[in-house]
Amino acid sequence: MSDTLRRATKAVIPAAGNATRFLPVTKAVPKELLPLIDKPVLEYIVEEAAAAGADDVLLVTARGKDTMVDYFDARPDLEAFLAEKGKDAAIEAIKAPERLAEIHAIRQGTALGLGHAVGRAAAHVGDEPFAVLLGDEFCDLGDALLPRMMDLQAETGGIVLALMEVPKEDVARWGIASVAPTGDADIVEVTGLVEKPSVDEAPSNLSLIGRYVLPGSIFPVLDATEPGSGGEIQLTDAMDTMRAKGTPVHGVIFRGKRYDTGQPTAYLQTLVELATEREDLPGFNAWLREFSATLD
Ligand code: UTP
Repeated sequence: MSDTLRRATKAVIPAAGNATRFLPVTKAVPKELLPLIDKPVLEYIVEEAAAAGADDVLLVTARGKDTMVDYFDARPDLEAFLAEKGKDAAIEAIKAPERLAEIHAIRQGTALGLGHAVGRAAAHVGDEPFAVLLGDEFCDLGDALLPRMMDLQAETGGIVLALMEVPKEDVARWGIASVAPTGDADIVEVTGLVEKPSVDEAPSNLSLIGRYVLPGSIFPVLDATEPGSGGEIQLTDAMDTMRAKGTPVHGVIFRGKRYDTGQPTAYLQTLVELATEREDLPGFNAWLREFSATLD
């Protein structure tokens, strides 16, 4: 059966990085488990994969990050304790991550880059298309980005990326795509990819965000990809190699809500934003308004 007849059912979450921007806390706590009040970032990401129909989830982990896998495990001891105290809501909360997806894990011994981390999924994924969700950002489920990307990939059999407009002066922080229109305002053909270009070299201000749907045929290409930008094996480089050899590459332009938790300022913004939306944190919004007024 060819890739064009299948829709991805597996998701890979690369979460083996060293998270240097969050040191020292990430010596002991994986960035992907940083709390958004009472729920870790990673649970939002697994929710996003499962909601799109990819409930077979492979976590790419590393030394000292086993707690990411434990988080999705059953805790009969804690359940019994909570049951004795009559804390039914808490029981539901701890069981939610267990029920989301079938969680698998594989190691990336050394953080050699995102492309290398994705390559670690080869044996688990095989020849099938699969979704990649970076372990430090998530999208609002209501915007249904990933299902749209998975549907498109099943039609083209190629690579489907998620793109977002960024301010021109910020292009050097991201992978940037050059694109051509398709007739659908939200879907573009990707004609080139470049990792962290200078402002002058950037072909557009459309940045790749951390969602990809890829064919299984990317694995041998990743194996053959040499270290690129930052000395890391870059997923962008492998995708661009495939594009240059004729694999169709499309971008879905995402105009919805994306939450970044990859670096401290963005993490803090996400945390505060989610807190303002919660109804069970009495007084928080009033405090925030008052506190903001004290800032100049
Ligand atoms: P980042 O570059 O944002 O994460 O990669 P990082 O390298 O851990 O953080 P900094 O840059 O040092 O602060 C995005 C995602 O890809 C994973 C990370 O864990 C993160 O979820 N990743 C990155 C890997 O799994 N392996 C790698 O070799 C690199």
